[in-house]
Amino acid sequence: MAKPKVLVTRRWPDAVEARLCENFDAVLNRGDKPLTETEIREALQSYDAILPTVTDKVSSKALDVTNPQTRILANYGVGYNHIDMGKAADHGMMVTNTPDVLSECTADIAMTLMLMVARRAGEGERELRAGQWDGWRPTHLVGTKVSGKVLGIVGFGRIGQEMARRAHFGFGMKIVVFNRSSVASEVLAQFNAVQVDTMEDLMPLCDFVSLHCPGGVSNRNLINARLLDLMKPDAFLINTARGEVIDELALTSALMFDTIGGAALDVFEGEPRINPNLLQCDNLVMLPHLGSATREAREAMGFRVLDNLTDFFEGRDPRDRVN
Ligand code: DGY
Repeated sequence: MAKPKVLVTRRWPDAVEARLCENFDAVLNRGDKPLTETEIREALQSYDAILPTVTDKVSSKALDVTNPQTRILANYGVGYNHIDMGKAADHGMMVTNTPDVLSECTADIAMTLMLMVARRAGEGERELRAGQWDGWRPTHLVGTKVSGKVLGIVGFGRIGQEMARRAHFGFGMKIVVFNRSSVASEVLAQFNAVQVDTMEDLMPLCDFVSLHCPGGVSNRNLINARLLDLMKPDAFLINTARGEVIDELALTSALMFDTIGGAALDVFEGEPRINPNLLQCDNLVMLPHLGSATREAREAMGFRVLDNLTDFFEGRDPRDRVN
């Protein structure tokens, strides 16, 4: 029997690409250039499976096809807000993602960002590389202590819980949680965490707020000017979730007018384009979407896609089915 024809939309780790080519009739993207919506639409007519990532807009426009050949969108990544789920469902297309395997590494990056912004590590490195460091002095780049402070976690799924584990057990932080559904008391108890009912309750309590909720329309601009105003004037905001969760205009003004202590972002609205106003903010640390960027996580994500595909084409329900 012919092997299923699958399209990999970006370069993947070598070991995973090699296995994909053994098990499937796989077409790789050696140039690593993101696909356009038109190219995605064309691919839907000729591949049994498409393996997209966050950089592929599998939008309603891209999915505007009749009788597509594609039966599964096996996403490389946990977030799938770049896929129009309603339209995929209209075509009877299954969608899978890659949870679990990147939770620790994404929480590690959120911790990195929290420490960097609190301890002014970005500012320090910029100063040193610019040849402007004139030596130690008691008032130089004085930051904020992290240990023992209050951390608000927005979204208490797998990544949020890994963040809580690091912050609570590593840094003695007190954990406050906002999550749309109620979190089991035994899960909260693991981190001595308390859940609050609203974001309005959460913001004023925290020295740090870290976002771990999904993107998409329901969380677009969740962090707006009103919620930023409720933060303590020396509190910090960390985002490793999706750029659209923060109203970047409101954040820029909070940073420029110093109404919050600072922010640290791994994700951006419209990335890789960065709002030029953000670049002017010294109290902001920025990374280029590195949450899951470790060899271990990126390989595990790829092998998880392979498992999902194998299950699908052998007639089993993939473990990471999301629709
Ligand atoms: C994820 O897994 O969602 C990462 O952000 C990359 O898409």
